[in-house]
Amino acid sequence: MKTIAVLTSGGDAPGMNSAIRAVVRAGIAMGMNVKGIKRGYAGLIDGDIVDLNARSVSDIINRGGTMLYTARCPEFKTEEGVLKAVETCKKEGIDGIVVIGGDGSFRGARDLSIHGIPCVGVPGTIDNDISSTEYTIGYDTAMNTAMEMIDKIRDTAQSHERCSVVEVMGRHAGYIALQTGIACGAVSILVPEIEYDLQKDVIDKIRKIQKTGKKHFIVVVAEGVGGVEELADRIEQATGIDSRATILGHVQRGGNPTVRDRVMASQLGYHAVELLNKGIGNRVVTFVNNKIGDEDIYEALAMKKVFDMDEYNMATAISI
Ligand code: ADP
Ligand code: F6P
Repeated sequence: MKTIAVLTSGGDAPGMNSAIRAVVRAGIAMGMNVKGIKRGYAGLIDGDIVDLNARSVSDIINRGGTMLYTARCPEFKTEEGVLKAVETCKKEGIDGIVVIGGDGSFRGARDLSIHGIPCVGVPGTIDNDISSTEYTIGYDTAMNTAMEMIDKIRDTAQSHERCSVVEVMGRHAGYIALQTGIACGAVSILVPEIEYDLQKDVIDKIRKIQKTGKKHFIVVVAEGVGGVEELADRIEQATGIDSRATILGHVQRGGNPTVRDRVMASQLGYHAVELLNKGIGNRVVTFVNNKIGDEDIYEALAMKKVFDMDEYNMATAISI
């Protein structure tokens, strides 16, 4: 391939910039031209594309967000939208594309591949909810941000002898909730993957622990479960413990990426370019059993992620 392009799509994630940098520099190092597509598939449809060189991606390895901007583009889900994007690729001489994003973005990459534009997906989402990989860019940074925030909430919960119910991100996935819940010593962790019983899993548990002398509590709730205000009220009514709800929100999507996210993003981005340089497309890059690899895009999209019940049960067992 002579010319490749890179885009970021879906929700942004800290480390996407580090991945863009790796893609651009790997492409140049392998003798290819590299272009940047702005605002994900929307920029591909509109032809919002810039030439990138090694200096265009200086000073971004440490920055949150994405220098290429990101967008959700409903038009790309239509045949017409995809055909417009293919036209742009032909006009710009784009031979292959690295798509940094989540499962939705990979579906778009699959559609482009079907229309003759080889694409390689790089997993980028704070949710870590992509089935084909054990790690997605942004997960570590988002969790560290959430952990820091919950640590601060814990200070005030402890001073006032309160229960704090904290919502972390994850509309369909409880991975951020599970690991931040463990890291912050939550009494209960509520995730969309597991049904919960308010009385048994939250109220009775708090009451039991209360009897052992504990006076402040943290409950971590994934966005997909929601209802933190109501939950705090119910806990207060049932236990008599003054309770507060906090929604952490988009603070988890920003900030400087951690070491893990910068290194993973560099490795995953580099591997994507290695594939395109060999003329291989229609793949997604993966991290499985501590190794960078890749998977057929169809197989990857057909996989189902299994929630780690051992980890969840461990968290429940030690929150006493
Ligand atoms: P993520 O990539 O983080 O999962 P989205 O699900 O919002 O985020 O998808 C990002 C973009 O990918 C969408 O706005 C759309 O342009 C494209 N996309 C999503 N799903 C599909 C699909 N089924 N077919 C084609 N393109 C899709
Ligand atoms: O996919 C990442 C994520 O942050 C989810 O956890 C969340 O549900 C969603 O994006 C929110 O997206 P937005 O606010 O950008 O629409």
